[in-house]
Amino acid sequence: MQNELNEISKIITEAEKNAKNDTFYEASPETESHLNWPVECTVGPGLEGAIACETNIGYVNGSKGWLVYRGYNIFDLCANATFEEVAFLLLNGELPSPSELSGFNRKLNDYKYIPDVQRLLMSFPLEEMSSMAALRLGVGLLRQKQTYRDKEKKYSNVPQAVASDDDSYAMESDLKGKSAATYEFSQQSYLKLKNVETDLLGSEDIESCYHLISGISTIAATIARIKSGHLPIEPDPDLSHAGNLIYMMTGRRPSTVEERIMDICFILHADHGMNASTFASLVVASTLSDIYSAVGAGVAALSGPLHGGANEKALLMLKEIEKSNNLKEWFQNALAEKRKIMGIGHRVYKVYDPRARILGPLAEYLVSKNPEMKSLFNTARALENEVNSTLGKEKKLFPNVDFYAGIVYHALGIPTEFFTPLFAVSRVAGWTSRILEYLKNNRIFRPRALYVGPYNKEIIKK
Ligand SMILES: CC(C)(COP(=O)(O)OP(=O)(O)OC[C@H]1O[C@@H](n2cnc3c(N)ncnc32)[C@H](O)[C@@H]1OP(=O)(O)O)[C@@H](O)C(=O)NCCC(=O)NCCS
Repeated sequence: MQNELNEISKIITEAEKNAKNDTFYEASPETESHLNWPVECTVGPGLEGAIACETNIGYVNGSKGWLVYRGYNIFDLCANATFEEVAFLLLNGELPSPSELSGFNRKLNDYKYIPDVQRLLMSFPLEEMSSMAALRLGVGLLRQKQTYRDKEKKYSNVPQAVASDDDSYAMESDLKGKSAATYEFSQQSYLKLKNVETDLLGSEDIESCYHLISGISTIAATIARIKSGHLPIEPDPDLSHAGNLIYMMTGRRPSTVEERIMDICFILHADHGMNASTFASLVVASTLSDIYSAVGAGVAALSGPLHGGANEKALLMLKEIEKSNNLKEWFQNALAEKRKIMGIGHRVYKVYDPRARILGPLAEYLVSKNPEMKSLFNTARALENEVNSTLGKEKKLFPNVDFYAGIVYHALGIPTEFFTPLFAVSRVAGWTSRILEYLKNNRIFRPRALYVGPYNKEIIKK
């Protein structure tokens, strides 16, 4: 087993070497100092190029092909850290000491047990919902179990409701002779609330981040189980975060190698600059909504095919090409019809995506143990070669993280429908870290749109 783990580390070291060689001549970025706001920058449609905030969390460099979390490059993290360590690093700024790590692991293990949320989730028609819609619902239910924010509001609204609607008085319980009318039941809930830790009312705290990072994996697995006609499985505290996900989702205990490869996938997806879902979650958090709603917004943004949904689409596309048995014709048609090839191209990377550099060889490694997937992998490699020698040369379009991720997940036994939820499960670490950071200097997001419509129309009654 140790040999296989060493082989995986070697794959990552090799990928890092290739990345460095390929981009050696690209200029390194200058170290940035703090900005003096307001800042001047060139902005394209969709806020492309706009700087919304400063961050210490993560950095993507599109010309060097760098992905950096808190100063550590992604290759180093994948080779030498676990997802748990990386999540702690993103949230807290430093890698954990052994005692911090065991405390963090204990919390993650505790927060994986969410039977109330699972029970609530099972009362919805999950089989009629897409897995990402169900995941967003699950995050909302997790919120209800962790924050008392809504209950607090309910209590404070009660006296006004009575004052403004005396007719409702007779239908409720007796007044208590206080200056403002209160109902017996709401007084009880107030007493209960007084015992609640105040940070649970706000919930923008690190504890909620741990709760979300851990809870969302149980939710994703529960959805997968229910949608495939099985009952949810309890987490196993002896397994890692990644191992538990495979186990709770598939019902099969992963091998050490499978657990490690899923762990690397989680590290690779944990954060990625100011991407659409991170931005969506920050926009919601900036309104001082709450961190659960903000993460729910991230899940919603991630579900689109141009963002997280591309991994599912890429695998389906590769299967279609494999079936057609005519890659060249498929590719020429795609070019002629100007179709977007899934898993290819990136808004930031204009060189090979470092995550694809790791996932490609990992897919090859898994396929070497799983010969029936060989033809699918060969199709992917052949398509990549076509892309590199055409779109790569002409438009700097190369495989992105989603190109090989589907093959890796497929080899690990994850059904296609749950690839994007898996992405969300790891990205929660990045979303929550960036939300906590942003809220320290919060400013509600408010870009502008240029109005180009008419001003002076009049209603003409017909
Ligand atoms: C990721 C993506 C949205 C980035 O888009 P972008 O940087 O805004 O690039 P644009 O859409 O402006 O495209 C620039 C050019 O490359 C082409 N292009 C971009 N992605 C392409 C793809 N996947 N396949 C074929 N051509 C592509 C565009 O057609 C355009 O060509 P043109 O200049 O001749 O009009 C885009 O590459 C894409 O849709 N990829 C497929 C979906 C995917 O894998 N998403 C996951 C991202 S991690």
